[in-house]
Amino acid sequence: MTSELAGRVALVTGGSRGIGRSIAAELAEAGARVAVADLARARESVTELPGDGHRAYEVNVTDAAAVDALVRNVETDLGGLDILVNNAGVTADNLLVRLSDTEWDRVLDTNLKGAFLTIRAAARGMMRRRQGRIINIASVVGLTGNKGQANYAASKAGLSGLT
Ligand SMILES: NC(=O)c1ccc[n+]([C@@H]2O[C@H](COP(=O)([O-])OP(=O)(O)OC[C@H]3O[C@@H](n4cnc5c(N)ncnc54)[C@H](O)[C@@H]3O)[C@@H](O)[C@H]2O)c1
Repeated sequence: MTSELAGRVALVTGGSRGIGRSIAAELAEAGARVAVADLARARESVTELPGDGHRAYEVNVTDAAAVDALVRNVETDLGGLDILVNNAGVTADNLLVRLSDTEWDRVLDTNLKGAFLTIRAAARGMMRRRQGRIINIASVVGLTGNKGQANYAASKAGLSGLT
């Protein structure tokens, strides 16, 4: 374990599995205390992290009030927030002519609006403390497009623009 990020607090959305879980593990390995936020199973992910002081939060990143509460709780529980990783993301693939409003909204709400809500909540404290890093997990599909992924490509292109 390195101590490059000792004393830092990181929040990883969608950290229960996949890429987010690996990001949380790398941040913990580098010495950060990590808040893992996900719809479910965040606690399982946290118990496997190296080091101490990590926390799990069950939250839906599309819920503005829940996201505001999440950031407040992380700042209180862990004493601040230095690094935000917007990783939570979904797909709902379909050919564009068959893409439903629900499939469009679900992907845009999670991948783009969810990141906006989390950034807005986290940026307040980061600006006050004059310190912070925000990392948004976009996708090459946001640059190239992909058949059957109009919603996902638009969400990730939007996320790059937001960044
Ligand atoms: N897997 C890839 O090849 C790939 C490529 C480029 C980008 N990405 C991006 O990387 C990120 C992670 O991808 P992955 O493959 O690990 O996905 P995954 O589906 O394995 O994990 C995503 C996590 O996000 C969580 N999540 C989904 N909606 C949520 C919500 N509303 N609130 C809170 N948590 C929510 C899920 O519960 C899950 O734990 C995504 O943003 C994805 O678009 C993935």
